[in-house]
Amino acid sequence: MNQGKGQTMWGGRFAATPSEIMEEINASLDIDRRMAAEDIAGSRAHADMLAEMGIISEADNEAIQGGLDTVLAELRDGTFPFRRALEDIHMNVEARLKELIGEPAGRLHTARSRNDQVITDFRLWTRSALDGAGSLLAGLQAALVTRADENAGTIMPGFTHLQTAQPVTLGHHLLAYVEMASRDRSRLADCAVRLNESPLGAAALAGTGFPIDRDMTAEALGFARPMANSLDAVASRDFALEALADLSIAATHLSRLAEEIVLWTSPQFGFAALTDAWSTGSSIMPQKRNPDAAELVRAKASLITANYSALQGAIKALPLAYAKDLQDDKRLTFEAFDTFNLCVRAMTGMIETIRFKPDAMRAAAAKGFSTATDLADWLVRELGLPFREAHHVTGTLVAKAEAKSCDLAELSLAEMQEVHAGITQSVFDVLTVEASASSRTSYGATSPVRVAEQVAQWKQRLRLE
Ligand code: ARG
Repeated sequence: MNQGKGQTMWGGRFAATPSEIMEEINASLDIDRRMAAEDIAGSRAHADMLAEMGIISEADNEAIQGGLDTVLAELRDGTFPFRRALEDIHMNVEARLKELIGEPAGRLHTARSRNDQVITDFRLWTRSALDGAGSLLAGLQAALVTRADENAGTIMPGFTHLQTAQPVTLGHHLLAYVEMASRDRSRLADCAVRLNESPLGAAALAGTGFPIDRDMTAEALGFARPMANSLDAVASRDFALEALADLSIAATHLSRLAEEIVLWTSPQFGFAALTDAWSTGSSIMPQKRNPDAAELVRAKASLITANYSALQGAIKALPLAYAKDLQDDKRLTFEAFDTFNLCVRAMTGMIETIRFKPDAMRAAAAKGFSTATDLADWLVRELGLPFREAHHVTGTLVAKAEAKSCDLAELSLAEMQEVHAGITQSVFDVLTVEASASSRTSYGATSPVRVAEQVAQWKQRLRLE
């Protein structure tokens, strides 16, 4: 709908209506309508403050608050008349308010600009989005801890370079992601603290001559304090950039876990299977069970990083203060949060239901001379060899076993003694994968006992009991 001459908010200055393409490129309503509730909250706080300071009358404030109640109800009922010609959510709400209450609506924008209005709304939106994403991550942590608890003693191969390295426990492996998610959550929480200053009252860029009380509006909206520089307030988007960086890092962790699911569920690994609810089939190959959700998480992690990069690009050469380039901040940020939240939900669902195959994991852990380090450690402990020499002796034994196509534990004691005469029968005690994993009891290590301790701590921290 075209508003026609004189009906846009700046109609006084303009004789002609915008071209359709101008409207198309300029309108942000389809995106920023998601901030309607925040916009109304900001307007309420602003109007209350204007009345408190005697800048508008109590009667006008009452009319404004009543009108905003109606607008909010219309938004909730889905009857709010969104008009794209009015560009954005701010002007849509104000125009509707004018239709509902008449003249007092025109007083609401006193000592305010869309520049401080939009960034107030956006900070409020991002603050709760950070909280929401953090809660979803807590849900993923809970799923991981539950599965770690069940698998504190499940042996699997630990890899470096994707080559079998040493036996580890599946519980330990899953808890590694719990730790990453914990740091991710703390980054999101930090971002919310830094974000939590109020730009409202910065007006267009220079502040206002009206005797406003910025502390009052800041407090009403749950901000810790007003921002100290009005140019900074309307020009800065580093809080959004920081949120996107935090999401990008967190999504990178999701992507690594997703990649492990892809590997583990491949027939070549066979460590796990996704349930029907989390797999897709192939239209041509009946045997396929594809881990599409995990693959999509892997791909979508890049979208979040790309949105970070796009926002950084939009900001980096902008002179102070506001420019319309900044309007795109919301699209990039909303999309990143939506994508991230979907990815966390998908990972949580997969982790909750994935069926691990302990026998296959154990068998794989026993391959590739995974207990060679245990043998070297035994030589150090029992025979007093320097580790470098023990490493060399073990290497020779591995080569010997490899030549015979057998495992280290399948060499005879005599064969071992050909390499080092001091070796005794008790060496075989350290060559099983169970002994190997159980022996690693240092703080943070993989032994089932340590994993059970960590699981117990996480259950407390996540209040899972
Ligand atoms: N829709 C605009 C945005 O998101 C609101 C601010 C417009 N300010 C302006 N000076 N044109 O950035």
